[in-house]
Amino acid sequence: MSVPQKYRGRPIEELISAGYYDPETRSVHVITGTELHVHSRDWQLEGPLRMLFHVLDPAVAKDPKNLIVYGGTGKAARSWEDFEAIVDSLLTMDSEDTLVIQSGQPVAIWKLSRNTPRVLMSNAMLVPKWADWKIFWELEAKGLISFHQMTAGCWAYIGTQGILQGTYETIGAAADRHFGGSLEGRLVVSAGLGNMGGAQPLAIKMLGGVALIADVDRRMIQRMIDTGYLDTWTDNLDKAIDMALDAKERRQATSIGVLANAVNLLEKLIKENIVPDILTDQTPAHDPLSYVPQGLTVEQAEQLKKSDPDKYMLLAKETMKKHVQLMLQLQARGAVTFEYGNNLRKQAYDAGVEDAFKIPGQMEYMRPLFEEGRGPFRWTSLVGDPNDIYKLDDVLITLFEKKNPRLARWIKNAHQYVKFQGLPARVVYLGYGERALFGKIVSEMVRKGELSGPIWFGRDHLDSGSVASPYRETEGMLDGSDAIGDWPILNYALNTAAGATWTCFHHGGGTGIGYAIHAGFGMVVDGTELAEEKALRVFMVDPGSGVVRHAHAGYPKSLMVARERGVRIPIIDKLEEKSRRVIEEAYREGRISRFTYERVKKDLEEYEARKQNYRTPFNT
Ligand SMILES: NC(=O)c1ccc[n+]([C@@H]2O[C@H](COP(=O)([O-])OP(=O)(O)OC[C@H]3O[C@@H](n4cnc5c(N)ncnc54)[C@H](O)[C@@H]3O)[C@@H](O)[C@H]2O)c1
Repeated sequence: MSVPQKYRGRPIEELISAGYYDPETRSVHVITGTELHVHSRDWQLEGPLRMLFHVLDPAVAKDPKNLIVYGGTGKAARSWEDFEAIVDSLLTMDSEDTLVIQSGQPVAIWKLSRNTPRVLMSNAMLVPKWADWKIFWELEAKGLISFHQMTAGCWAYIGTQGILQGTYETIGAAADRHFGGSLEGRLVVSAGLGNMGGAQPLAIKMLGGVALIADVDRRMIQRMIDTGYLDTWTDNLDKAIDMALDAKERRQATSIGVLANAVNLLEKLIKENIVPDILTDQTPAHDPLSYVPQGLTVEQAEQLKKSDPDKYMLLAKETMKKHVQLMLQLQARGAVTFEYGNNLRKQAYDAGVEDAFKIPGQMEYMRPLFEEGRGPFRWTSLVGDPNDIYKLDDVLITLFEKKNPRLARWIKNAHQYVKFQGLPARVVYLGYGERALFGKIVSEMVRKGELSGPIWFGRDHLDSGSVASPYRETEGMLDGSDAIGDWPILNYALNTAAGATWTCFHHGGGTGIGYAIHAGFGMVVDGTELAEEKALRVFMVDPGSGVVRHAHAGYPKSLMVARERGVRIPIIDKLEEKSRRVIEEAYREGRISRFTYERVKKDLEEYEARKQNYRTPFNT
């Protein structure tokens, strides 16, 4: 490729001439192979470079020309100039340098040590009193800040597969609770086939059910058909509903997309008196400028957004209000209804729907996983070899098949259905202890040459100990600590101190500006002893901080995990008393459901029965 004059002599020139980046068309392509590009010849720098290119590859990113990876407007870098400066930095840094990134802009390089991270990021942070979208957009327009969602700015997004597992686990947990574990002959209705929402149809199909999902954007529907995540689609609501009911009747696992606004689909269901078995939603309600108001096509919405953003917001909020009212009606008719962490209930509540929070959040189903530090651990083959991922699938099945059949079923399903996007990747919900065990095995395999090259590890910010988001991950904590922001900061600090290859602290992911702060990391396991030492520390403290966070909130299962797997909590004895008290308080104050109350009470009984076997935290 010919390199424009402006880039000649710059470090990035080599990547432009190799075709990995075209500054004229603004296209970025995944870098594969064993040849290193960074001048340091160090995978700890090549790794972040490759993950940055990976998240912006057209097969991965939602709108790569605008650097947007997923989730409304979550970017990988603030601007193209910033992207280029980050790339130049990574190419020329040495193995003791640390690049500092402020909201997608590289601001400094410090010489630290081989034990410290190579990149540190803080993205979209605002002082709490100033933390709302309006101020954020004003500051963004001045070029001072930008939005990076969770894994977009942290270069840890792995395409729709990442969320596929989360959706599979969440809807699977709902199926366990309400339908004996299977969705066979069940209808699940939702909306949003975007980068994350696009996982819904396949997850529901994997669980045996029928998915009926609305989206206003034909391109997004087509994209999901092309990736094999969606089976079929139509622009006719009647036809879509007939197809779904027919499949439900025949107990055929399938997915149907319908080109329609979410509220149009729900209005139709109510009119026809059709009640879904499960009802949720993944439109980008966290950002009113991404949510499409009823009555507008995508093109009309784009125009109005530019010409009159205030009017757009007003219309979007009106539609969200109606959206939640319709969900409440279907819930009253018997649909198992929950919000999928997009802040839709809060938007509707602010617009006057007082009972919006009658709809529970997704944590009703995910909390038990988080209590034991289990969450979306993920990895990619940095050299781009799919066989490395398949070999690691086999390792996991051997390790965990007996202990965790659900995990093994996921891997087998993923093997069959998931098409890789960008670098081949896998995501598996692993817990405290399991991540370190697996990381050690992978490191040895890389060292011995049993894999073609290094493996990058990371996770979604949506994890056990890395988020404070009172309408999502930390909704309904037993002790009411939903809005306490210390925990994700401690998680970030621990992963940084433990020596992750890069660490990220973000604001606003998932539920929007003002509603969430959260941390993530990237860890390159390159077969060296040093990387292994660091990885084992990270894979211990990261899920461990989730166990600690939940233990301090009074979850008895976390106390059990801490005692039995050696997580040292100095005041653990006090937490037992707290657990007893907050379980009762949370139920009395209506912060947890009857189901959760009974579940945690049972855990407490189990904890108390095993207690005499536990040693004190000071001699474990
Ligand atoms: N908590 C979780 O685990 C979790 C997981 C996935 C997604 N989410 C949330 O779901 C939302 C969607 O995420 P995404 O990455 O898929 O977003 P995205 O921006 O990539 O896609 C959103 C999709 O919704 C469609 N859409 C917008 N308004 C609509 C409307 N009124 N009716 C029908 N379709 C509409 C758009 O056309 C687009 O295809 C976000 O708020 C995200 O935070 C949460």
